[in-house]
Amino acid sequence: MKAKHIIIAAITITLISFFAWRFVRPMNIFIVDDRFAWPVDTTQVPPVLGNLSAEECGNCHKEFYKEWRTAIHSKAWTDPYFQADWNFDSKQHVCRLCHTPLDRQQPHKVLGYRDKYKWDPILEDNPDFDPKLQHEGVTCAACHFRDGKIMGVYGNTNAPHPVKKLDDPNLVCVRCHVVEADSWDNFLRFPPCGTVAEIKDTLADNPSNKDIKYLQDIIAKKPDKDLLSTLALNSDSNNVIIGKKGKTGEITAGNARSLGCVQCHMPLIERPLVEGGVVRKTRQHLWRGGHDPEMVKKALTIEFIEKEKTAKNNRLFSLTIANTGAAHYVPTGTPDRHFIVNLRLLDDQGNILKENKNTLKRTVMWRPFIIDLWDTRLARWKPRKYELEVASDSKATMIEAEIRYYLVDEARRKRINYKNTTPLNYEVFRQTISLKKGTQ
Ligand code: HEC
Ligand code: HEC
Ligand code: HEC
Ligand code: HEC
Ligand code: HEC
Repeated sequence: MKAKHIIIAAITITLISFFAWRFVRPMNIFIVDDRFAWPVDTTQVPPVLGNLSAEECGNCHKEFYKEWRTAIHSKAWTDPYFQADWNFDSKQHVCRLCHTPLDRQQPHKVLGYRDKYKWDPILEDNPDFDPKLQHEGVTCAACHFRDGKIMGVYGNTNAPHPVKKLDDPNLVCVRCHVVEADSWDNFLRFPPCGTVAEIKDTLADNPSNKDIKYLQDIIAKKPDKDLLSTLALNSDSNNVIIGKKGKTGEITAGNARSLGCVQCHMPLIERPLVEGGVVRKTRQHLWRGGHDPEMVKKALTIEFIEKEKTAKNNRLFSLTIANTGAAHYVPTGTPDRHFIVNLRLLDDQGNILKENKNTLKRTVMWRPFIIDLWDTRLARWKPRKYELEVASDSKATMIEAEIRYYLVDEARRKRINYKNTTPLNYEVFRQTISLKKGTQ
């Protein structure tokens, strides 16, 4: 009897300690794979590129520099949200690998890793560390500089710096916009911040012809030509393959074109690369996303209408929302992003009498195990419908539909002590319908 009790007690203590550890252990939510595990080597810089700063490139490529300055890539280090989160996460080295990827943007050199998942780097002071360049975040060279050369798509230019032809511009994005999360304790459908992986998945799961027809009819009534919708519908899902190569971290194989990142996030424009140069087809360095209400609106097709009366002779209103502008889920990126979709009945004082409120978000449980609980975000071209019924004796005088986009919610903002100076949520749609007789 005694021995049995000891065994049970030992098992119980082991289990309790295991779960206790799962609740306090450092959170390593992805694997640092070779794609980005090593900072970009900048030991050999041709003299014409000076200190590799964006200003340096901007001396010749003025327009590109001006655009990049307005984009979040230029703030990937200084961004107060990133800084708050990084501090909260005990300033882990791994975050620098994408937010400041050049070796001279990092105060330490990475000599190797102690653990299999590469969260524990062996570091050494970096004499070439350039704090000013660190503040440029995802700077020009982060995307363009490899092996002493500038990567570009033309291959026939007359540049004063060495140039290497890039097979497909979308290969550039893959380095940072997806992480792997295959470890024994992860049960995720997509890796966290898995934009690239989402495209692969969402394109394989085609929308129905009925949904396509319905959404196309709504889009046809929109005043502006909807270029992103065309791109999102016609993207080619066949063999999106993501290959990788060892230490330099570049992507090698795959039909990257079907990802379409550049086609949607870097609008096409004809202009010279340098003042007085040959006019070419170029791409604007804008990369708009969740921080830009206009871009988020472009992702959505929305319809708010009154339907036929119900069997009980009540009025019925319906709000349909669909992602017709993006090939990945909307929202995408960090699981902090979400929409709140709200249908409300209001009386003539503006009081809410009834509401139908929904959150469109990817909900992940982080502890004790990492599990995708549910995902109510919008897949490509799959409409989502919300309804609200108005009883025939209701005091309501108005029905309102509102859609708000949230970069991050209040609870998390507080937890990481992020003191924002710009709004963290904004309206992307609001429409009211009067219920007074004769108005509709
Ligand atoms: C001294 C001026 C100068 C500087 C500095 C400079 N460039 Fe260039 N770059 C040029 C010129 C000139 C071309 C060729 C223009 C043409 O033929 O249309 C060019 C071409 C390019 C191309 C296209 C190459 C191709 O073949 O596809 C890219 C990309 C590029 N530069 C990026 C950069 C980046 C990034 C930096 C900074 C790290 C930089 N350049 C610094 C002058 C400069
Ligand atoms: C060196 C890593 C890196 C590469 C390469 C990269 N990005 Fe990013 N990107 C980032 C980081 C980091 C952020 C987030 C910056 C922040 O908010 O702190 C970001 C943010 C964005 C955003 C979000 C904008 C917003 O408003 O939140 C878009 C869109 C984007 N990138 C598109 C692209 C595209 C398209 C490519 C390929 C041409 C690309 N990125 C290549 C690291 C990278
Ligand atoms: C997030 C990655 C990224 C960053 C940062 C970036 N570029 Fe680019 N750049 C690209 C991609 C991708 C292309 C190829 C676009 C295409 O298909 O034409 C490109 C193209 C260019 C071209 C050739 C014209 C064209 O549109 O193809 C020039 C010149 C250039 N970039 C300069 C710069 C300069 C200067 C900076 C910094 C101020 C910069 N880039 C920052 C990704 C980037
Ligand atoms: C068919 C057009 C389309 C394609 C293809 C596309 N995007 Fe987007 N993307 C959008 C639109 C529209 C939005 C704005 C909606 C949103 O922020 O969720 C967006 C938003 C984003 C954001 C913002 C997320 C955030 O946190 O704010 C990122 C990052 C991003 N895209 C990266 C990519 C990358 C990387 C690729 C390629 C692997 C890509 N996109 C391909 C249209 C596209
Ligand atoms: C594999 C590359 C990569 C690594 C490593 C990485 N990030 Fe990012 N991070 C991104 C990209 C790409 C985005 C923009 C797209 C998105 O929202 O996911 C981003 C966005 C963010 C944002 C949102 C910024 C905003 O303004 O909305 C925060 C916060 C952030 N990262 C924090 C971190 C922290 C903390 C770490 C280290 C634990 C880290 N990141 C490591 C690539 C990376």
